[in-house]
Amino acid sequence: MRTLSQVQERIKNYKEAQVFYKPGLGYIVWTMATGDNLEVLFVEVETPGQGQGKELYKLWAAYIDVSGQSPYHSVIGYSLASNHRAKHFYCKLGWSQRNLGQSIYRDDDTVVMWCAWNDFMRNLFSEKEQ
Ligand SMILES: CC(C)(COP(=O)(O)OP(=O)(O)OC[C@H]1O[C@@H](n2cnc3c(N)ncnc32)[C@H](O)[C@@H]1OP(=O)(O)O)[C@@H](O)C(=O)NCCC(=O)NCCS
Repeated sequence: MRTLSQVQERIKNYKEAQVFYKPGLGYIVWTMATGDNLEVLFVEVETPGQGQGKELYKLWAAYIDVSGQSPYHSVIGYSLASNHRAKHFYCKLGWSQRNLGQSIYRDDDTVVMWCAWNDFMRNLFSEKEQ
């Protein structure tokens, strides 16, 4: 996993990106996107496949909530179509996904992913997800 300074270097040209960094767990980088919705730019955990991604999102979502940054409606993100782990992960968190059939990056299809914020919070913190 990148160090905090590596993350800050990676996003130095991004306007108004914010970093939520938890040593030993992971980080999320996000920004305010179109329509006052939140766009997750990067997420990475220390050790994939052990529940850290969901734990990280719980901490971040609680932070967003208490700091008054909840989006107008939804949270969105983009993934490479070849990133099967990320697609499974967001599917488990209840995000909708559409493969655009083209790439906005380099040479792989882009998948746009999104979830209504209220649904996302419910999915993260519901009894069966504890
Ligand atoms: C994507 C990423 C953040 C997910 O975090 P994670 O810690 O691996 O995911 P978790 O262990 O918290 O998994 C949460 C749920 O997704 C499911 N899941 C995660 N990876 C999966 C996979 N490859 N296949 C099937 N299900 C998967 C888990 O089973 C779990 O579901 P459950 O609660 O019902 O058991 C992490 O893998 C990562 O840092 N990847 C590298 C960076 C990256 O690709 N970022 C995303 C770019 S869009």
